Formats: sequence, C-alpha cells, structure tokens
Amino acid sequence: MPDVRDSFRDVAANYSKSTFHSSSTRLQEVVDLAQPKRGDLVLDVATGTGNTAFALAPHVRRVIGLDLTREMLAEARKVAAERQILNVDWVIGDAERLPFQDDTFDIYSVRAAPHHFANVDAFIGEAFRVLKPDRDGIFIDCAPPLPARDVLHVVEVRRDPSHVLSLTVEEWVTRLEHAGFEVEAAEARELDWNYEDWMGNQNIGPELSAQLAELIEAAEGEARVQLHPERREGKLWHAYWHALIRAHKPG
Ligand SMILES: C[S@@+](CC[C@H](N)C(=O)[O-])C[C@H]1O[C@@H](n2cnc3c(N)ncnc32)[C@H](O)[C@@H]1O
Repeated sequence: MPDVRDSFRDVAANYSKSTFHSSSTRLQEVVDLAQPKRGDLVLDVATGTGNTAFALAPHVRRVIGLDLTREMLAEARKVAAERQILNVDWVIGDAERLPFQDDTFDIYSVRAAPHHFANVDAFIGEAFRVLKPDRDGIFIDCAPPLPARDVLHVVEVRRDPSHVLSLTVEEWVTRLEHAGFEVEAAEARELDWNYEDWMGNQNIGPELSAQLAELIEAAEGEARVQLHPERREGKLWHAYWHALIRAHKPG
C-alpha cells in the first residue's frame, strides 16, 4: 500500500495555488454546502494546504485542519501567516483514527481526499463519532459515473499511486446512511477539467502526462460520451465530476 505522504510531501506549494483547490467559486461552494454559524467549531479533515479550512474560517469561531502530511500542513501554516488568518489550528492525524473525543465538532468537512482513504467505513464512522448530534458533515470528492470511472481509475493510480477509489454519489449515500447519517443533499457536479493543470499539481513529467492523456482520448462507448475529451489549442480538456454531499447526524 503506497504511503500517501510520498505523494504530497514534495508538491505542497502546488496545492495552495491549484486551479481547482484554490478557486473562489469552488470554495464558495464549500461554504454554501456547510452553512456555517458564527460560534461553530469546524474539523477539516485531510485539509492539505488548508484551502477548505480558510474558506470556512471567516464564518466560524475556529477551524482545526487535520492531515497526515507534515509538509502540506507547513504550507497551510505559511499561507495562514501570510493572510493573517488567526482562527485556524493544524493537527497531524489520520482520517480513519481521529484524535478527538466523541461529539466535539459543529461541522465536519472533507474535500478532494477520501479517494485516498483505504477504509471508507472507518473514516465515515470517525466523522460520525466526532460530530455533535444534530449537526452536519460535508463530503466533497471526485465521483465519476461508472463507465468514466473505469477509465479515470487507471489514470488516477498512475498519476498518484495513493489513489484508492472514487465513489459514485450513490455509493456515498449508501455508506453514509449505513453509518447513521441522514443525507440532506447529494449531487454530482460536472466540471470542464483542465488536464494539464491536474497533472501539474502532482508534477507529472511530459512522458507520463502524454501516456495518460492518450488513455482518456482513447475512451470508447459510454465512457467517451461521459468524458467528452477535446483538444483546445492543443491542450486536453475533459469532464470531471465531484460529489457534493451534506449529511446530518441525528440529534
Ligand atoms: C488533494 S489534498 C487535499 C485538499 C484539501 N482538502 C483542499 O480542499 O484543498 C489530499 C490530502 O489528503 C491527505 N490525506 C490522505 N490520506 C489521509 C488520511 N488517511 N488522513 C489524513 N489526511 C490524509 C494528504 O496528505 C493530502 O494532503
């Protein structure tokens, strides 16, 4: 099993500038989904360089950003200092074994990371455990529809060997309900995806990048219809999907 830290320790600076991860539109989406309140204590799991934590921070009392990779948190600390964001703290830890007591947080958030987690039920169980009753978790992750997932899975694993699996929205809902959550909102949102930027986040070299582009452009049947790969001024664009989910822990 590849160590996720090997995938992220040398690319931390990319993630605080990434087109997707730092987009103000995408971060507003996080705030809209989470519906934060002034006094809230938030746990942002697999916070990386803190993009999601920073989006929620102005709306709440405090955010704790947790991540396995020390270097990602070092970048988050640097950005927090530059932007003078004072109500964020950083904790090294594992989404599947959270170092917090039961019923601690008003909001649990996780974005663009569960596809790395080996044990989805353990991570969702931990989300449920640390949330206060009658409060919500938000879960945002890549979530391609099935035929496209088969193509993208091969690409994802070669781009980043710590990729495990992207769940579909339906799979998400089943797992969350199994853990005791009531799913309040669940949608798959399609984006026009800049392939080159995506490869750039992981510093993928030109040779591997070209090989993986070929896999997407060679997609056939339903996968091709879903991915609709297209060259614009020589650069590859294709569809990419995220699940946007808000789930309620009953009171
Ligand atoms: C793409 S980055 C996260 C981006 C960030 N959530 C955002 O919204 O910008 C993925 C992060 O997941 C972290 N990660 C992967 N597996 C983890 C685990 N089991 N527990 C905690 N963090 C994990 C990695 O260290 C990495 O920083």
